[in-house]
Amino acid sequence: MGYFITFEGVEGCGKTTQIKLLSEFLLARGMHTVLTREPGGCPIADKIRTILLDAENKALSPLAELMLYAAARAQHVTEVISPALEAGKIVLCDRFCDATLAYQSFGRGIDRGVIDNLNLQACQGATPHLTVLVDCDPRVGLERARQRIEATSGPREERFELEALAFHERVRAGYLRLAADDPERFLIINGADSIEAIFAAISTLVAARIPEALRAVY
Ligand code: TMP
Repeated sequence: MGYFITFEGVEGCGKTTQIKLLSEFLLARGMHTVLTREPGGCPIADKIRTILLDAENKALSPLAELMLYAAARAQHVTEVISPALEAGKIVLCDRFCDATLAYQSFGRGIDRGVIDNLNLQACQGATPHLTVLVDCDPRVGLERARQRIEATSGPREERFELEALAFHERVRAGYLRLAADDPERFLIINGADSIEAIFAAISTLVAARIPEALRAVY
């Protein structure tokens, strides 16, 4: 069995930069890692991602949105995450089931029980061993995310960036609550620090948590 690490945080918190750095760090040490993301991670889930993040889809209802995240996850777990874990790999996933609780429950107000149930079905037993929460003030994160969107020539994935600040504050508070409820699994990292300082913290703390059997042998 492999080891499953997820990264979470509000828009623009820096988790995508950090997960890439961590993947390079582990690969350079000979560890077998798979870097993936949600929504997406395989062709069918990537198509669902396009629907979910397209700012033109303003009419998407909260329930339909939730079901699409669950559908993308079910496909991603089946095609990518479970096979990689079964092959003994270290899976690094940029967002997973906690994002659905933070955004669709704390953010949108959908009943937690409904989401827990859907996550249970979609995850098919794949549960993160470790979750790195890159905590950041949404005002700072949204500004970074807007700059990234303006600098990108592809589709504008900004349906969530266009939400009110209050929505993102609820998402941040939701993540912090989830972390407080499960301190064994969550590692809270201060996203206000420099990229180098954040990476130094993550690489040290995460490497120490990876089971001995999966660490590379030189
Ligand atoms: P990204 O910007 O980190 O790629 O994530 C895409 C967006 O999707 C981000 O705004 C958070 C949102 N999201 C949810 O609302 N629920 C979920 O379950 C997931 C995985 C992401």
